[in-house]
Amino acid sequence: MAIVIKNQLQIEKMRKAGVLVKGAFDLLAGAIAEGVTTRELDGIVAGYFKSQGATASFKGYRGYPASICASINDEVIHGIPGTRRLRAGDIVSIDIGACFDGFHGDAARTFCVGDVSDEARRLADTTEKSFFAGMQYARAGYFLHEISAAIQEYVEQQGFSVVRNFIGHGIGADLHEDPEIPNYRQKNKGPRLVPGMTLAIEPMVNAGTYEVEVLEDDWTVVTADGSLSAHYENTVLITEGAPEILTL
Ligand code: MF3
Ligand code: CO
Repeated sequence: MAIVIKNQLQIEKMRKAGVLVKGAFDLLAGAIAEGVTTRELDGIVAGYFKSQGATASFKGYRGYPASICASINDEVIHGIPGTRRLRAGDIVSIDIGACFDGFHGDAARTFCVGDVSDEARRLADTTEKSFFAGMQYARAGYFLHEISAAIQEYVEQQGFSVVRNFIGHGIGADLHEDPEIPNYRQKNKGPRLVPGMTLAIEPMVNAGTYEVEVLEDDWTVVTADGSLSAHYENTVLITEGAPEILTL
């Protein structure tokens, strides 16, 4: 499938979806605390999207049962919200997709619950910063692989590793569109970036090795070595100049 270049009308809808994803994170920032269940967080986002005339992009996607993903500590991505309560010292990666007027926005943040270890804080911080290292190359004329390489280089300089088995993606009328966006260096340069491309760039970073496993629920991805993992993602519009980050 070819990369879909968005026109102004489509971009406007994606901006709106992005604002809603951001709004959901603002709500969660005030709700994430010791003792809260991930199911309660899911309910907050589901209710908010409903009130805004939007839907949660993930709900029902390939059978996914919830509105958000909530992945705690050694869980990398796709943690299913449930009755588990957050505890002080946890890091929780929340992934949210909103669909508005047929177009998606997708983003992830890693939150620290109470006081966390220095390693956990540094991991969350590095993951966020690696996204912005990649942003330096998110401009018309660069190759996609330059974003990937910049993310990997930043993460590995900090002594952490980037997950290989899951990657970022184009986004628009579909949650997952071409191109595939690994967070590691590739031989294939991939496409050259052009204005109107919309990309979900999402480094997943492990404190230990990059190997991951999928749990029995067929969704939850965990680190193979039990080390901590963090996730940071935004939906990005490539322009003639600086990238426009739609979910920030
Ligand atoms: N941000 C993730 C992604 O883009 C979330 C997908 S969860 C799913 O793949 F449930 F929708 F699969
Ligand atoms: Co995504």
